[in-house]
Amino acid sequence: MMITFQNVSRFYNEWPALESINFQVDQGEFLIISGPSGAGKTTVFRQIWMGDLPSSGVVEVVGFRSDRIRRGDLPLLRRKLGIVFQDFRLLSDRTVYDNVALPLQVIGTSPKAVRRRVFSLLSEMELNHRRGSYPHELSGGEQQRVAIARAMVAHPVILLADEPTGNLDPEVSRRVIDLLIEINRSGTAVILATHDPRQVPAGIARFLYLDRGHLVNPNLWGGYRQL
Ligand SMILES: Nc1ncnc2c1ncn2[C@@H]1O[C@H](COP(=O)(O)OP(=O)(O)O)[C@@H](O)[C@H]1O
Ligand SMILES: [Mg+2]
Repeated sequence: MMITFQNVSRFYNEWPALESINFQVDQGEFLIISGPSGAGKTTVFRQIWMGDLPSSGVVEVVGFRSDRIRRGDLPLLRRKLGIVFQDFRLLSDRTVYDNVALPLQVIGTSPKAVRRRVFSLLSEMELNHRRGSYPHELSGGEQQRVAIARAMVAHPVILLADEPTGNLDPEVSRRVIDLLIEINRSGTAVILATHDPRQVPAGIARFLYLDRGHLVNPNLWGGYRQL
C-alpha cells in the first residue's frame, strides 16, 4: 500500500476535523475525495504530506509512519509526492521554466538532465512557448498546468491535487482533469479532492466521501462507484 490511514483523528481545539478515518490507497490508483467545504479534505492531504500529524491513529505513506517520522525524513517523504493546490502557488518572480526546474535543482540534478526533463514536460503540457513567461502573464489554466508540471518533474509516485480546478472555469477544468487522468494512466497514483466528482468519468476513479470529518457510507470503501 502507498497510503494507509489507521483510525486517524485530528482535533483542533477539541473539535474533530477528522474522526476515526480508515482507508488505503494502492499503487497507481485514482482516488477522489469529495465532500462539502469544511468536510476535512485538506486536512486529509496535510496528513499525507505530514505538514500536520494526527491527534490519534497512524498515517503511513510510502513507508513513512506519522508516529515515527522525524523532521529530517520529511524531505525524503515529500520527494515521493507531487502536490497541486487550488491557488497554484507558483513563485511569482521566476519564469515558467524556473518554477518547473526548481524541485530538480534542489535535489542536485545535473543542469543537462534538468533541461531535458523540463523541456519534455513543458512540451507534453503544451507550455513550451510559455517557458520564459512569468506566472502573472499566464491564464489560470496555464498556471495550473505549470503547477502540475512542477509537481511531476521529479517523478513522484503519488500526485496530490487539492481542488485544483476550484479557480478555473469548466472548460479549462476539463483540460486539467484530463491531464490528471493521463498522469494516472502512466502509473502515478492520483488523489484528487473536489466537491464535484462528476468531473471525472465513471469507472476511472475510486470515490471517498467526507462529511464533517467522517467517511460516509462505509460499504463503499474500496468499492468502485458509478457516478
Ligand atoms: N489549522 C486549523 N485550525 C483550526 N481548525 C482547522 C484548521 N484546519 C482546518 N480546520 C477545521 O477543520 C475542518 C476541516 O477543514 P478542511 O480540511 O480545510 O476542509 P475542506 O478542505 O474539506 O474544506 C473545518 O471545520 C476547519 O475549520
Ligand atoms: Mg480544502
